[in-house]
Amino acid sequence: MPEASRTAVLVCQGRAVAHGRIAPGRFADPVAMSLLRGGERDAVEVARAGTPPQGVSARIGYESLTAVARTMVPRTVAVDDAVRERPGPQLVILGAGLDGRAFRMAELSDVDVYEVDHPASQADKRERAAGLRPVAGSLRWVPVDLARDALGPALAAAGHDGTLATTWVWEGVVPYLRRAEVAATVRAVAGRSAPGSRLVVNYQSPSLKATLGLGVARAMARLSRRPDPTAREPRRSAWTPERFRALLAAGGWRVATDDDLLALATRLPSPTRHPSGMRTGRVAVADLA
Ligand SMILES: C[S@@+](CC[C@H](N)C(=O)[O-])C[C@H]1O[C@@H](n2cnc3c(N)ncnc32)[C@H](O)[C@@H]1O
Repeated sequence: MPEASRTAVLVCQGRAVAHGRIAPGRFADPVAMSLLRGGERDAVEVARAGTPPQGVSARIGYESLTAVARTMVPRTVAVDDAVRERPGPQLVILGAGLDGRAFRMAELSDVDVYEVDHPASQADKRERAAGLRPVAGSLRWVPVDLARDALGPALAAAGHDGTLATTWVWEGVVPYLRRAEVAATVRAVAGRSAPGSRLVVNYQSPSLKATLGLGVARAMARLSRRPDPTAREPRRSAWTPERFRALLAAGGWRVATDDDLLALATRLPSPTRHPSGMRTGRVAVADLA
């Protein structure tokens, strides 16, 4: 991935669209808009207006951002709840992208936060976040390519303490890694997790329908001459819940909950139409056995 992640921008836009509009009181991301640039914000404003615009290209952009917003709400709420329940004393966000937690979660005021991301994505995030003040106890940047670099030594060099409990957030990243890279990351995470640690991970389960849907979305983006944020970030792995549970168990993790996004969404107070792909996205919360 030679350039900063575009899917990180897309999901941040989704959270900015949803903020204050979907499940208010349960979902909030007041920081998302501040992490976006001019044209990215304009697209968010169009989707927030809630009126489908004229023209095929504009309409495709509106519909896809609206669907991303609906998908981001249950995912974000599930991760936030799991972090609030066990926030630290250290929080490592793997593949952080434009994650705003270090800037928006008051519960992290005593927590040392480490944002790990691909170097190109992290450099972009640091530029975007330059005017923002973290609310976390501390925020350290750890550039790591999870497909090439050793995660453990990079975290140790950044000051992460392997003898203290860590909560790990790994959201929206597993699909972009190959199976062996996912397994290596689970091993590295286990190697730096003291008793009391928690792993909160979002992954995709295999789905022919979702794969076809992604293909259709790409074709529509091409036809409408819109940039396709997923073009340079191919999906590389999907996991059945059973297989993912076994992978985590091998690292010493006991899965406490593992829900699909549709199930999580139905527990939220805001009835919205649910995009069909929501059934394949999952959030698992696992604690050290
Ligand atoms: C869809 S974004 C999710 C960002 C963020 N976690 C969120 O949920 O908003 C995918 C993220 O995975 C990161 N990523 C993909 N491949 C990676 C790799 N090999 N090493 C490190 N990060 C990677 C990207 O840089 C990007 O930040």
